[in-house]
Amino acid sequence: MRTEQPRTIYLKDYQAPDYLIDETHLTFELHEDRTLVHAQLVMRRNPARGSGLPPLVLDGQQLELLSIRLNDRELGAHDYLLDDRHLTLQPDSAEFVIDSSVCIHPESNTALEGLYKSGKMFCTQCEAEGFRKITYYLDRPDVMSKFTTTVSADRQRYPVLLSNGNPITSGSEDNGRHWATWEDPFRKPAYLFALVAGDLWCVEDQFTTMSQREVALRIYVEPENLDKCQHAMDSLKRAMRWDEEAYGREYDLDIFMIVAVNDFNMGAMENKGLNIFNSSAVLAKAETATDAAHQRVEAIVAHEYFHNWSGNRVTCRDWFQLSLKEGFTVFRDAGFSADMNSPTVKRIEDVAYLRTHQFAEDAGPMAHSVRPDAYMEISNFYTLTVYEKGAEVVRMIQTLLGAEGFRKGSDLYFQRHDGQAVTCDDFVKAMEDANGVDLAQFKRWYSQAGTPRLEVGSAYDAEAKTLTLTFRQLCPPSPGQAHKEPFVIPVDLALLDGQGRELPLRLAGEAAASGTSRVLAVNEAEQSFTFVDIPEQPLPSLLRGFSAPVKLSFPYSRDQLMFLMQHDSDGFNRWEAGQQLAVQVLQELIGQRQRGEPMVLDRRLVAALKSVLENDGLDQAMVAEMLSLPGEAYLIEISEVADVDAIHAAREFARRELAEALFEPLWQRYQANRQASRQSAYVATAEHFARRSLQNIALSYLMLSEKPEVLEAAQEQYREADNMTERLAALAVLVNSPFEEAKAEGLALFADRFKDDPLVMDQWFSVQAGCPLPGGLERVRALMQHPAFTIKNPNKVRALIGAFANQNHANFHRDDGESYRFLADQVIMLNALNPQIAARQLAPLTRWRKYDLSRQALMKAELERILVSGSLSSDVYEVVSKSLA
Ligand code: PHE
Ligand code: ZN
Repeated sequence: MRTEQPRTIYLKDYQAPDYLIDETHLTFELHEDRTLVHAQLVMRRNPARGSGLPPLVLDGQQLELLSIRLNDRELGAHDYLLDDRHLTLQPDSAEFVIDSSVCIHPESNTALEGLYKSGKMFCTQCEAEGFRKITYYLDRPDVMSKFTTTVSADRQRYPVLLSNGNPITSGSEDNGRHWATWEDPFRKPAYLFALVAGDLWCVEDQFTTMSQREVALRIYVEPENLDKCQHAMDSLKRAMRWDEEAYGREYDLDIFMIVAVNDFNMGAMENKGLNIFNSSAVLAKAETATDAAHQRVEAIVAHEYFHNWSGNRVTCRDWFQLSLKEGFTVFRDAGFSADMNSPTVKRIEDVAYLRTHQFAEDAGPMAHSVRPDAYMEISNFYTLTVYEKGAEVVRMIQTLLGAEGFRKGSDLYFQRHDGQAVTCDDFVKAMEDANGVDLAQFKRWYSQAGTPRLEVGSAYDAEAKTLTLTFRQLCPPSPGQAHKEPFVIPVDLALLDGQGRELPLRLAGEAAASGTSRVLAVNEAEQSFTFVDIPEQPLPSLLRGFSAPVKLSFPYSRDQLMFLMQHDSDGFNRWEAGQQLAVQVLQELIGQRQRGEPMVLDRRLVAALKSVLENDGLDQAMVAEMLSLPGEAYLIEISEVADVDAIHAAREFARRELAEALFEPLWQRYQANRQASRQSAYVATAEHFARRSLQNIALSYLMLSEKPEVLEAAQEQYREADNMTERLAALAVLVNSPFEEAKAEGLALFADRFKDDPLVMDQWFSVQAGCPLPGGLERVRALMQHPAFTIKNPNKVRALIGAFANQNHANFHRDDGESYRFLADQVIMLNALNPQIAARQLAPLTRWRKYDLSRQALMKAELERILVSGSLSSDVYEVVSKSLA
């Protein structure tokens, strides 16, 4: 917490460290009312920084210094300088040893950064700058050290003592305490340090690596969760195998551990050999976790495991390079999930998410490039841009180089930089060197923020039999970047004839046609490509698989979109055509609503979805995806000025019209799928996910009819389901329905059954927080008083406050501004408890420029109120001040 304005850190100011830490020996004495940390640092002058002995400036925050020694000399207060962020002292030789002892208070650490208690266990979170809250250190990722860690604690309360690497020795003391020593043979930055102590149980398994080494796998949880680990364990083994096969990467320690904790700011953390997980990202079984939760667990387990190479063996030089590990690792986990499930469905989900949320970030006041060039608080830069857009950038490199070239590049990257702390430039350089290409212009994706628009025009010359596609790219200004240079935009495309067949593609000047689909690298502000031997006016299928994170516009008619929905051989673009058709239809309804005209749904949308529903040959997951109308958040994102009320009304109107017109085929699909669910036990496989997702979206449409037989079906599904996917979907349709009695009964039954399972109660909170019926704010306020709610647990905050502010547009944007005031109050409260969570919950208010003037004023007033509310954390200060700038 600070009163003065936080300092901005710039990438251009980067300097290598003056000193290095070769060895780090830590001893933790854990007690109920304090923890003592002794650190021995074996240090030397960094030869790369020349000779001379500058002062040594160690990072340290919220530490009570008990003693400090330089070599064997105890230092007195006049031997060092101490302020609230640093300890500075003067070494007298190029090699030396620092011994320090500090006292810290994990038992009252509510920020969940550094060493803290989650329930009855001790755990750590050090990324990005948490280690400095544990001991005085050079807390920066380019200082890599070999760690040994001894943990001592009460044996009864904390029978399990863990840290990174391999267990070396352990023993008992006669005062009821015991200790264990761990040694990590790999040099690592402090942000990958971890420690856990608690009464934990574990599920154990084994993995044989490609070079036949045996690795022990352990997932540690509190005893009541032992039956929820199998899915994560299976996912881990699949991820380990996949990384060997897809990237040639093998695991390197004798043991790999995962620990589940309930209080965690993020999804999970890749600490070397000891991943610490938010329990929501590891625990899953049919009765308590939805299909979506199962898939999230699989993806996050894989993501953290993949970091062992992309993040740990090769790490970041500084935090501006965060996307080096995060963008690449998201790209890797997406490849894994695609291979484990349906690649097209995975791509659709990722693109819908990116376009809704990352594009909004890219257009807002916190917009930054994939490699930012300045920050006040690095915790604010664990963003959709660094993660998801960063993954898109890596994906574009793969699209440009081809799968084989990309693999050569990643092999070279890992080989060249193993054991180093490097930059995004080093990553791209490895890709260039392995392929003999120049990616200089491509690298603008790392340095320029904002989402480029790509406008495409086509001109067919019937006489010459040529088609000319003209591309114009334009990237709107973003904070600090008024003008942008052209990007390299890989456009994967095909040209379809009247029957929907792909035409052979030959560009003017080429000797022969090569294939029927290809990638054009658009790299100028305006650029044309002419295809020859085109016998008839074709319909282009553009940006297949969403080959670049841009806003594409091509003047498709609704009939052409319907044609693409049926005929495009690219599954992603079939879905995309349906989405664009729905966007056009919904925007028309929004306009009608705004003008006070009666809304009239274009029946072509009905016809298109009818044929999708009646097509038995389509993957059911695709049918479900195609039935899902673009979300309100996406419709807001693509609006110039978002009229939330009209958007909500138009979308609800379309849903009702569709439900009525398609009742029969929806009912058939629903009943067939529900029947199949009844007849088979739950399995977490793509085929079953697909069946249940279609069943549940069908139910949500059917319920809009308010027919008694549908209500009965929903109640049957609710009562009889053997899994959370069906049960929660049924509860959600009841909650969103006008059937007050059924709703109250469903909610009460659910809460009674699952009151002791916090992760399930999170879902119960979310379903209610998201309900668009009037009175949402009042419901959320009441739920905050529920015994299962606590503002100290980030999952609870996200499930209730976050779901309300991010998903319940109708209620969050009520026109009296009361919901804005509510959110600001929560942010002010959270600022004092957990600054990272406070800053994240702020995001919806930062988007104030998107709305009408009256809402703008109300939202801005709340941001201003937060700004003057007292001592702001650097996290909240940065977001609020940039939003108001
Ligand atoms: N590095 C983690 C991941 O993406 C995320 C994380 C960041 C967790 C900061 C905690 C704190 O895998
Ligand atoms: Zn990550």
